[in-house]
Amino acid sequence: MKLGCCYYPEHWPEDIWAEDARRMRAMGLSLVRIGEFAWSRIEPEPGHYDWGWLDRAIETLHAAGLKVILGTPTATPPKWLVDRMPDMVAIDEQGRPRGFGSRRHYCFSHEGYRAECRRIVTVLAARYAKHPALHMWQTDNEYGCHDTVLSFSHAAAAAFRGWCAARYGTIAALNAAWGNVFWSMEYRSFAEIDPPHLTVTEANPTHWLDYRRFASDQVASFNREQVAILREAAPGTPITHNFMGFFTEFDHHDVGRDIDVATWDSYPLGFLEQFWFSQAEKRDYLRQGHPDIAAFHHDLYRGCSPKEAGSRWGVMEQQPGPVNWARFNPAPLPGMVALWTLEACAHGAELTSYFRWRQAPFAQEQMHAGLLRPDSTEAEAADEVRAAAAVLDAIGPQACAQAPAALVFSYEAAWVIGIQPQGQSFRYLELVFEAYSALRIRGLDVDIVSPDADLSAYRMVVVPTLPIVPDGFAEKLAALSCPVLLGPRSGSKTDSFCIPDGLAPGNLRDLTGVTVNRVESLRDGVSEPADGFAVTRWREDVVADHAPEITDAAARGVVYYKDGVRYCAVWPDRDLLALLVERMAHEAGVELCDLPAGIRVRRTQTHVFTFNYSGQSVSLPGFDAPLPPASWHLAPL
Ligand code: GLA
Repeated sequence: MKLGCCYYPEHWPEDIWAEDARRMRAMGLSLVRIGEFAWSRIEPEPGHYDWGWLDRAIETLHAAGLKVILGTPTATPPKWLVDRMPDMVAIDEQGRPRGFGSRRHYCFSHEGYRAECRRIVTVLAARYAKHPALHMWQTDNEYGCHDTVLSFSHAAAAAFRGWCAARYGTIAALNAAWGNVFWSMEYRSFAEIDPPHLTVTEANPTHWLDYRRFASDQVASFNREQVAILREAAPGTPITHNFMGFFTEFDHHDVGRDIDVATWDSYPLGFLEQFWFSQAEKRDYLRQGHPDIAAFHHDLYRGCSPKEAGSRWGVMEQQPGPVNWARFNPAPLPGMVALWTLEACAHGAELTSYFRWRQAPFAQEQMHAGLLRPDSTEAEAADEVRAAAAVLDAIGPQACAQAPAALVFSYEAAWVIGIQPQGQSFRYLELVFEAYSALRIRGLDVDIVSPDADLSAYRMVVVPTLPIVPDGFAEKLAALSCPVLLGPRSGSKTDSFCIPDGLAPGNLRDLTGVTVNRVESLRDGVSEPADGFAVTRWREDVVADHAPEITDAAARGVVYYKDGVRYCAVWPDRDLLALLVERMAHEAGVELCDLPAGIRVRRTQTHVFTFNYSGQSVSLPGFDAPLPPASWHLAPL
């Protein structure tokens, strides 16, 4: 695994670039990402390119022995471009323009902006495609960041109408699929269709789902245009895009299919603070991050990268210290930057790059740590980077071993649950993460895969929830010889977001032997007892051709088992998940670990990594000494 950093030569005097480059190499870095926000410096005036500074920056980095990851600058169109095409900005759900003055001020559907992107990427690629320092391209930056996937602009509305016509063929077919007879929502033509916002009360869920599918397709096609240009100019140079944490606004499996390396931006402390984690977890893991946040995304994005090309992935931005964008921004526990680095290596990353080289003393991110402070003195993370670099040199390349467990992740499932939660505490990402965590707590290595992945190599398969079940998926599960767990609401919707004929779980009915007659959601604080777990948040009343495997204290069916397939008819709390993992592993003959709180293990083909995310020293069997807080242990397999 290579180490790198995110660098902004345009932010600093040229006369410090060479010293920066020398210090990067001395720290053990070999890659430098630049350029993703540099459009106004590359093209300060329309049609007038100023390549000199970028030429010299790349030469400076190259002369120091560094390779460059060069970003296309389309996440920050310059002011003159926005002034030329004011309608290129996205329109938010309230009909307001997302204006200039920060970043991501564009609409994915604006054809004029797409043409400008093709132009700037073409000239950038032409200039640097053959540069010996070029290691990889990065398209744009964090598609959708700042809630920018959905736009309700005229351009988006027009493109959506075309998308609907292509999907349905006739307006009658669309009306039928959407159930538009309801509330007189029928259209006479595709031209009558608008985006599903600004309606009096909630819009048709199918209208929303199709708008999300459309918006996701727009991101994928926007990216594909850049990929085509870059491949044409530099056929052998890999292309990445840097995804984000806990972000489901577009289908990353779709975008991942068009790039070579799926990278993501890892800010474990920021994500712990910003997402659903309990106060206790936010306290216990304040300076470490939840033990599964980074690993979850490592496994998720490895699964978004083309398997036939080696499932290449990496961390493009690793938090090196306090960030600036969370509600609270603590400093990592000493040792965590090195631990996070080695965790990425243990999951098969080909690079970990730190955000950023030097903290900026100006603008929006002046309070965001870097590897250097604004005065160029080394920040706390620098020593940890050197320590991690030394370990990486010592252990050599790490290759992923076959994971025993697969967890099926669906972006469409996230949209369906988000559009129709039916209970405000039924959250897709949380359910998936809890299922993932239940596997990791017992020491299982996990691949997170899309619903169309080949599942035959796994010893156990977990589907946390899959409301819309793709054609062939039920048959694929039926053909497996390993235990399968299907979570609640799986099979509960047709492809057009309707209740299946014959009720849920739709085309999973034969496989599971159950029919869902009624569902209910339980308010926070309601907990209905069972033996060793509790039913909270969600319950389904099920009829089955066989007795439930697991019932609650009132003898109501909770889990149904049929021929190796379990259907969980409730929101599974951690105790129930633990019980199900135990049973599935036993049936699969997979060995489980009993790990103390905060401890995780991960195996490569040659090593076993042990990580201590807890704030305490932890004694472990077979270890000569307790594992200190925020530290790791490596042993050859
Ligand atoms: C994201 C962006 C970066 C920067 C960091 C700050 O990952 O890609 O440009 O804003 O967040 O943490």
